[in-house]
Amino acid sequence: MNKLIVSLLLTVGISGVAHAAGDATAGQAKAAVCGACHGPDGNSMAPNFPKLAGQGERYLNKQLHDIKSGKRTVLEMTGLLTNLSDQDLADISAYFASQKGSVGAADPKVVSRGEALFRGGDLAKGLPSCTGCHAPDGKGNAAAGFPHLGGQHAQYIAKQLTDFRKEEGGRANDGDTKPMQSIAKKLSDEDIAAVSSYIQGLH
Ligand code: HEC
Ligand code: HEC
Repeated sequence: MNKLIVSLLLTVGISGVAHAAGDATAGQAKAAVCGACHGPDGNSMAPNFPKLAGQGERYLNKQLHDIKSGKRTVLEMTGLLTNLSDQDLADISAYFASQKGSVGAADPKVVSRGEALFRGGDLAKGLPSCTGCHAPDGKGNAAAGFPHLGGQHAQYIAKQLTDFRKEEGGRANDGDTKPMQSIAKKLSDEDIAAVSSYIQGLH
């Protein structure tokens, strides 16, 4: 790659992460209202409410900005972030990132198909493995903003993959190169069910 392009990419990358540093202790009090759905420590009990405990701080902060601005629609959270500052969002992200995430169980009937997809992708469909970005144990890559998936509720994961796959009205926010929208389009309903169940038990 040409040196100029490399330095341009570096500049964009650095300015893209220039958010306020989060304070987990300050974040705990500010996150009290979130506990009703996500669990006080971020381990939600309901399968449609995502677990936030142990999620990467950078990823959490990006989602909160995207939800607040309306780039990602979460009806259940309407108005909840309106009065929170960038510092509040950074502190809340630091708090949930510092908590330990719980793990569920995979459905034994679909676990082998789910594991094969997660670890190997599907060459015939041009589907990359999930491990390249989300890591073999599902812990993601916190510095890069690739989310931690291991132990997350299967129902929530399946909804995200289905939403990323939709042409309109789905999950419009994604990483810079929109990796998940193109990946999800290559997944069938059966693929989504299997890989989501596998992720729920992954740790
Ligand atoms: C009434 C329930 C409810 C409350 C209260 C709530 N949330 Fe949520 N939150 C949800 C739901 C439902 C989703 C997932 C929506 C979807 O399926 O895309 C979500 C998604 C998220 C996500 C994205 C998670 C991911 O893995 O991408 C974050 C971050 C988040 N909420 C943080 C918060 C914070 C911080 C608060 C408190 C200020 C809060 N939520 C309050 C219901 C709630
Ligand atoms: C090229 C890197 C890359 C690959 C490969 C990849 N992902 Fe992702 N994934 C991402 C990024 C980046 C995001 C976060 C998007 C954002 O910032 O909004 C994400 C988000 C997700 C989410 C939403 C998590 C949440 O908490 O809401 C799910 C589910 C997911 N990926 C599943 C998968 C599965 C299953 C595979 C394999 C079939 C896969 N990903 C392959 C980069 C990747």
